[in-house]
Amino acid sequence: MVSLETVRQNNSSLKGFGPNLVAVFVGGTSGIGEATARAFVRETESSRVYLVGRNETQASKIIEELRQINPDGQISFVKCEAARLHSVDEACKSIQEKEEKVNLLFMTAGMMTTKGRDETDEGLDKKLSLHYYSRARFAVNLLPQLSKAANANESDKQGLGSSLSRVVSVLSPGDEISLHLDDLDLKNHYSLRNCAGHAVTMNSLLMQELAAAHPETSFIHAYPGGVKTGLMREFHPITQLAINALTIFAKPWMVPLNESGERHLYASTSPQYPPQASADGNVAIGADGNTGSGAYLLSWDGSITGNKKVLEAARQNETGKLVWKHTMEIFTSICGN
Ligand SMILES: NC(=O)c1ccc[n+]([C@@H]2O[C@H](COP(=O)([O-])OP(=O)(O)OC[C@H]3O[C@@H](n4cnc5c(N)ncnc54)[C@H](OP(=O)(O)O)[C@@H]3O)[C@@H](O)[C@H]2O)c1
Repeated sequence: MVSLETVRQNNSSLKGFGPNLVAVFVGGTSGIGEATARAFVRETESSRVYLVGRNETQASKIIEELRQINPDGQISFVKCEAARLHSVDEACKSIQEKEEKVNLLFMTAGMMTTKGRDETDEGLDKKLSLHYYSRARFAVNLLPQLSKAANANESDKQGLGSSLSRVVSVLSPGDEISLHLDDLDLKNHYSLRNCAGHAVTMNSLLMQELAAAHPETSFIHAYPGGVKTGLMREFHPITQLAINALTIFAKPWMVPLNESGERHLYASTSPQYPPQASADGNVAIGADGNTGSGAYLLSWDGSITGNKKVLEAARQNETGKLVWKHTMEIFTSICGN
């Protein structure tokens, strides 16, 4: 477990990166994304931050508050229906028009629903798309900007001596399952359990594929623990009331929202989770069991997690490559490139 003291020590040193870090928070208009964006703006110098989501009113309110926290930060809203890959492409394009490099891509856009398969006009299940395909699309689209951040010239390297280049997807590592390999998008095997399991497992495998191909960037799949956020907003008000009542009893096991923001900022910046290319010494063990592999599966407290049995079988069967191939085929069939 990483202590809160260590988390705060790391976060309070981030101004050492120097000014002008660029961060994209997909899901930055609520919950864990918002809390992490707040911590990022507070702890960094003149950073440029993009909050991606649908709720413009909420975004304006957060931007106003963030300006008070740190008047040097530049915060913008990017409207995006992230379950649609075309909308993801438009959001990325609008960021790429303004930024040559992106230091941090932090993704939390998600939903909780008990509905069955619910397809977007692009033919993907909305929840599976938000939790996996859309995140994969953001990461792949923004790789040139992440690489640029990683390979900044010596002259523009940030003060901490290394260039921050990191992707973080917040979902639920540890809950990986054996995949339906012939039906990865669950056209025929849809259930809430399969949807959750496929999204989690494909996130964990994608991070490893990306880290192997892009050794100068680190890739993290993180579990937040129980955090009281807006995640239940699509439930019936009575169900929400019941869940809120239950969370009162669960409080000792819940992670307070501010602490969650601080911990995710640590996951997003700590030298404990370095890219493969610059890993040395006493750093975290990666998803493949090797120290400093560049892909990390983190529990709420920064410790290493992941379903070892499922991940080992996936490694032996090269399931990651299959997931990557499938993801590219989905991208081509929907977006045509
Ligand atoms: N909270 C927990 O206890 C917990 C536990 C385990 C895992 N998680 C996972 O952590 C992630 C973050 O959850 P959270 O608790 O921070 O939830 P949250 O407060 O509901 O935030 C979700 C964010 O996703 C965005 N979003 C939802 N649907 C979207 C869409 N179609 N297009 C664009 N943006 C969309 C929302 O923005 P707009 O409303 O502006 O669209 C919001 O900013 C989720 O993937 C969740 O499954 C959470």
